[in-house]
Amino acid sequence: MILVTGGAGYIGSHLVKLLLKKGKEVVIFDSLETGHTETVEILKKYGKLKFVQGNLKNLDEIRGAFLVNKIDAVVHFAAFSQVAESVSNPQKYYYNNIYGTLNLLNAMLEFDVKKMVFSSTAAVYGEPEYIPIDENHPQNPINPYGNTKLMIERILKDYDKAYGFKSVSLRYFNAVGADSDAEIGEWHEPETHLIPNILNADSEKTFKMFGTDYDTKDGTCVRDYINVEDLALAHIRALEYLNNGGQTDCFNLGTSEGNSVKEVFNICEKVKGVTIPLEVFPARAGDPAVLLAENKKAKRILNWQPEKDLEYSVKTAYNYTISNKH
Ligand code: UFG
Repeated sequence: MILVTGGAGYIGSHLVKLLLKKGKEVVIFDSLETGHTETVEILKKYGKLKFVQGNLKNLDEIRGAFLVNKIDAVVHFAAFSQVAESVSNPQKYYYNNIYGTLNLLNAMLEFDVKKMVFSSTAAVYGEPEYIPIDENHPQNPINPYGNTKLMIERILKDYDKAYGFKSVSLRYFNAVGADSDAEIGEWHEPETHLIPNILNADSEKTFKMFGTDYDTKDGTCVRDYINVEDLALAHIRALEYLNNGGQTDCFNLGTSEGNSVKEVFNICEKVKGVTIPLEVFPARAGDPAVLLAENKKAKRILNWQPEKDLEYSVKTAYNYTISNKH
């Protein structure tokens, strides 16, 4: 049985759906602070799924999940993940992301579960020193959110040396899209991410484009947009890697192709078939000009590669927004 913390959230729910479709038994542990009970209800129809509403900050709650279930491995998504909020309220991020993870690790060691796939981020690198970013790029996060993820990666390495605890840290670049059935998708409150903000813009709520004088091909930021179902598949490959005796390691998950904010905007207009109202705003603090993954290591070692292009991701995100009016 696989425990998925944060399984009611955006990326976690896509993994749970895939695991269930592959016949795996899954326990979701989620506080529902940012995840959604509606998502859990949808996932239940795909197989053997248990849901535990609990908070990792409460050791007894996470211990309880191990006490009553035979857990073989953990995929750990549960975390707060808004970069700007982490700057204004670091306490919330350090307390939740670090303390919560320490409790999860306590429970795992107590119940002798020593395999984890950890949801990390490109934010562990900070401002890029070279592009594309490989896994050996210096790690200098520029916000508390990135700091929490880097600290956890380091904790996991120490736990391996001391306790033989094996983990894979997956450093996502920009996760986008929704599942192909338009049942689950990106649902953040408030929404800060690019594609949902473009698709949800209308005459009352225009899309705000942050920064048009970056040193890039068209002046807007370039990012590496990776489809959420492709991301989910990488977690399956990481679990297989650990089951086959793989060593603790980290992998970038991206396409190695960059798209500018203007290009993403144009694809969204094409998919939606309307003119989307747009206003140009100053650059957002802390947004690097270009973030691009070197993804060869995941291809080589995890036998994973992205299959879905950006236009497909935008189409699925759009289908999700029209069939789910939250
Ligand atoms: N953007 C806009 N308008 C919006 C939202 C975003 O112009 O309404 C721009 C941003 O300025 C940025 C690009 O679109 O240039 C992408 O922004 P997102 O907020 O969608 O994503 P980020 O690249 O800021 O953040 C992502 C993840 C974070 C992670 C980070 C790694 O969402 O969790 O990559 O650096 F930390």
